Amino acid sequence: MRMRKKKHGAERLAALSYLLPPTPPAPMTDPSALFSRSAPIYLEIGCGKGGFACGMATKHQDANFIALEKFSDVMVCAVEKAEACKDTRPDNLRFFIADAVTLLTLFAPATVDRIYLNFSDPWPKKGYAKRRLTHREFLKIYLSLLKEGGELYFKTDNVTLFDFTIEELDALGIACRYITRDFHNSPEAVGNVMTEYETRFSEQGVPINALAFTKCRKDA
Ligand SMILES: C[S@@+](CC[C@H](N)C(=O)[O-])C[C@H]1O[C@@H](n2cnc3c(N)ncnc32)[C@H](O)[C@@H]1O
Repeated sequence: MRMRKKKHGAERLAALSYLLPPTPPAPMTDPSALFSRSAPIYLEIGCGKGGFACGMATKHQDANFIALEKFSDVMVCAVEKAEACKDTRPDNLRFFIADAVTLLTLFAPATVDRIYLNFSDPWPKKGYAKRRLTHREFLKIYLSLLKEGGELYFKTDNVTLFDFTIEELDALGIACRYITRDFHNSPEAVGNVMTEYETRFSEQGVPINALAFTKCRKDA
C-alpha cells in the first residue's frame, strides 16, 4: 500500500510513541516484555491502516498483539486508529515500522503464537516472486518464529497469490488445517475480523480465499 506523504507524519508518530517501541538491539526472546503482562503473542505482517490489528486486540483481550508495517506514512493511520480504540481493550497492542525481511532481527525463534498475513501484496511479475510474503523463504522465517503448536492465518482476494502460497507450503511439506476459496461462507469465518482490503473486496462481491496451518514438531 503506497500512500501520499502524511502531513506532519513524523510528529504524529512521535506523539504516539508508546505504541511504537524502539527496534530491539537483539531479537526479542520475550516479546511480552513490550507489554505490562505476559500473554500469547499474535503478530500481523503488513498491517496497513491497522483495522485488523485494532479489531483483534479488542476481540482477543487475552493476547498481546504486534503489527508490522513497512511504510511509516501508512503506520500513521494504524497508530492513530489504535489510540482511538484504546478504551475498548487492555494495553495489548504495539507496532513496528519494519520490513518483514528483518523479522529474525526483531523476534527470537519460537516466540510467536500466531501469525496473520492479510491481503499481502501479490507481486504478480514472476521476477518479483521472492518479494511475496508467502514465498518459501518467508514461510521458513515464520516457521522459525512460531512456537510448536503456533498457527499461521492467511487471507487474500488474489487467486494467483493463493495458488502460489499453496504450492510453496506443499514444497515445504506443510499441511494446512483448512483451505477455503469462499472464506466468508465457510465455518472458518466465525469470529473473523475484517481488514480494510477485505471490506473493500467483499463489498465488490470478490470471494475471499483463506488458509491456516499449525506448526508441528516435524516443521521445526
Ligand atoms: C495490500 S496491503 C493490505 C493491508 C491490510 N493488511 C489489509 O488487509 O487491509 C499490504 C500491506 O502490507 C505492507 N507490506 C508489504 N510488504 C511488506 C513487507 N515486506 N514488510 C512489511 N509490510 C509490508 C504494505 O505496505 C501494505 O500496507
